[in-house]
Amino acid sequence: MTERRADPRPSGRRADPGPPGRPAGIAAYWDAAAESFDDEPDHGLRADRTRAAWARLLRSWSPAAPAGVLDVGCGTGSLSLLLAEDGHRVTGVDLAPRMVGRARAKFAAAGLAGRFLTGDATHPPTGEERFDVVLSRHLVWTLPDPEAALRDWVGRLRPGGRLVLVEGRWRQAGAEGVPYVAGAEALPWSGGVGADDLAAAVRPLVGGRVRVEPLSGEAELWGGPVDDERYALIADG
Ligand SMILES: C[S@@+](CC[C@H](N)C(=O)[O-])C[C@H]1O[C@@H](n2cnc3c(N)ncnc32)[C@H](O)[C@@H]1O
Repeated sequence: MTERRADPRPSGRRADPGPPGRPAGIAAYWDAAAESFDDEPDHGLRADRTRAAWARLLRSWSPAAPAGVLDVGCGTGSLSLLLAEDGHRVTGVDLAPRMVGRARAKFAAAGLAGRFLTGDATHPPTGEERFDVVLSRHLVWTLPDPEAALRDWVGRLRPGGRLVLVEGRWRQAGAEGVPYVAGAEALPWSGGVGADDLAAAVRPLVGGRVRVEPLSGEAELWGGPVDDERYALIADG
């Protein structure tokens, strides 16, 4: 089996970057990436083993259906779809309109209901609504103010609600790397965030109820072995 690329970011494309760290450049990048985004095994979840592995994990983190789930930075809605298949009411938010379009199309093709909104994950455009689960996978590394986003998300949880962050650290600090948009190297968690640092940021927001599940060893999640840090952080609000 070939080793998976140790970086969930699409490679080889550089959209009009826009000003450093500003969402306009980031949105353009992800809009351009939307068409081929699902070609990566852990994005499109096209293989039965990969899809089943994510479905099992999501089930282990979710309350009984139907729960209200907010998927921030939902991309093409692959995780949202698994949750909707299990009977949850899913709202997805993404900065890139074409990602949102892909997610809507995926739900329409599956005959499932879901709400997808274009907007900034740091302040999702869902008004005063509260959720049983706020989920985010592979997003915080590209946020200009990830700690503000974490505060916002915890504030959107119903009493007893849960924050689920699937994250990783896929570039060693100090290693050379081409930023995916100009200025991205200045983002606070550019290259990903380790579990200890993310837990330290989340713990004060939820009164300490945080646990981490390592995911690097579960090759079926990624479509093959990975050698970087990948994990889920689960925090009960
Ligand atoms: C690596 S992809 C992950 C997508 C999806 N969560 C998944 O795991 O398949 C990052 C996603 O975050 C979105 N994104 C980046 N910055 C964002 C922001 N400030 N607000 C909302 N979405 C954002 C991108 O458009 C892209 O869809």
